[in-house]
Amino acid sequence: MTVTFTASSPEDSSALILPLGKSQSIDLVTSDLSTETGAALKRAAKASRFDGALASIVEIFAETDKGARRILVVGTGNGDDGESLEKAGGAAMAKLLTSGETALTFDARSHSADSAGSRMAFGALQRSWRLDSYRTKAPAKTKPSVKEVTVVAPEDEAAGWDRYQSVYAGIALARELVTEPPNVIHPAGFVGRCKPLADLGVTIETLDKAQMTALGMGALLGVAQGSAQDPHMLIMRWDGTDGAQKKPVAFVGKGVTFDTGGISLKPGPGMEDMKFDMGGAAAVAGAMRALAGRKAKAHVVGVCGLVENMPSSNAQRPSDIVTTMSGQTVEVLNTDAEGRLVLCDAMHWVQEEYSPDVMVDLATLTGAMLIALGFEQAGCFSNDDGLADQLLNAGTASGDKLWRLPLGKAYDKLIDSPIADIKNTGPREAGSITAAQFLQRFVKDGVKWAHLDIAGTAWRKTTSNLADKGATGYGVRLLDRFIADNYEG
Ligand code: BES
Ligand code: MN
Ligand code: ZN
Repeated sequence: MTVTFTASSPEDSSALILPLGKSQSIDLVTSDLSTETGAALKRAAKASRFDGALASIVEIFAETDKGARRILVVGTGNGDDGESLEKAGGAAMAKLLTSGETALTFDARSHSADSAGSRMAFGALQRSWRLDSYRTKAPAKTKPSVKEVTVVAPEDEAAGWDRYQSVYAGIALARELVTEPPNVIHPAGFVGRCKPLADLGVTIETLDKAQMTALGMGALLGVAQGSAQDPHMLIMRWDGTDGAQKKPVAFVGKGVTFDTGGISLKPGPGMEDMKFDMGGAAAVAGAMRALAGRKAKAHVVGVCGLVENMPSSNAQRPSDIVTTMSGQTVEVLNTDAEGRLVLCDAMHWVQEEYSPDVMVDLATLTGAMLIALGFEQAGCFSNDDGLADQLLNAGTASGDKLWRLPLGKAYDKLIDSPIADIKNTGPREAGSITAAQFLQRFVKDGVKWAHLDIAGTAWRKTTSNLADKGATGYGVRLLDRFIADNYEG
């Protein structure tokens, strides 16, 4: 989809999209229209009880000298903020994507939020993403028709578009990785999809099974050992500071390309959803795509621990004891609590290799997270209040929201093992917290660390204003904003 900017509303046949807030008069958006069209729009708004509610839409076809033109007014609710504008843009795209319209014009000059038109177009792009490569028999009518987006905005706004385009590309990469089936996005397939980031200046490195064995990553390898697919560690590094920022910020992603549970097998119904269990790794890859795409002035390393969790005669057993790269031993009581086993070695490795001051991990780690926060916000656990605040603020600003949950000694005790240093599961209660406590045991002294449990936010069963049902790309906007606000001065 191409996005272009123009200073005045084009009088062509493109579908025209006008945002309107609850407290705004419709006169604000009809002033550029002919008297008849303006009047028709007002009648339609009244007749359909349109009140500017977020993402609600009133639509008319206006007769113009270029033929019938579709005009939509989209509600932005109570907010003149970027998030509402993104959602309104997404709602318009949802309605028009397969409508037959080929060109859309967004005119958000009624709103004073920063880059209002860009935010609408950004939301529209997000909502337009889909994976159609496996639909070989889809009727033409069901295929996306929209090819062009035009944004009506003050001249200086166009210069800022690059950043939205890059973040969108990051979201699209994350959604692609999550949506593609696990027979394609196995560990090697994941790496293959990320290799092109090298063209943007990202340094790509991988560790294979032999290298990880030599490093002593017994926990990660234990998860992988039941699968015919070899594990990989993917390391992506972007330095936009010319070496000025010595230590990179580290992002670490859980990349379980399919989670059957292993010998502690998950129930059949719903197991198909577990292709999304690399959503943390996908968010890290997407964030690297976004940062490199917009040449962020920061130094960041993204590490993805990529494995498949399968049952087989070679799989690890409940009660196996593995030795992690850190030297700590883990009693594997439940092979379905595999994410923490993958992450602990990836986290230890990146701390040894890059000595980061700040490390953020993202993982679809616990089902308990969905029970606690549902699909709306991800859980944030941190050993540092300042880092937690930075992340929560980035969440609010970007729309990828976070809610902080506690850590503490009393929770930590729950994962002491009677036979090894740690066990990989605690009691049923506080399952998301004990998972975070497990990870914290692999954080070195002095490292500011946060763990984001995105089990509820990486995948949706229902559509939202910004995504069709399925992969959300959660975390890309968040990490991009976190870096922009705290490292780029
Ligand atoms: N990938 C799952 C977490 C998950 C479950 C995410 C359901 C989204 C929906 C993770 O590997 C897992 O299986 N966790 C277990 C841990 C338990 C065995 C301690 C869980 O949450 O049930
Ligand atoms: Mn699992
Ligand atoms: Zn898992």
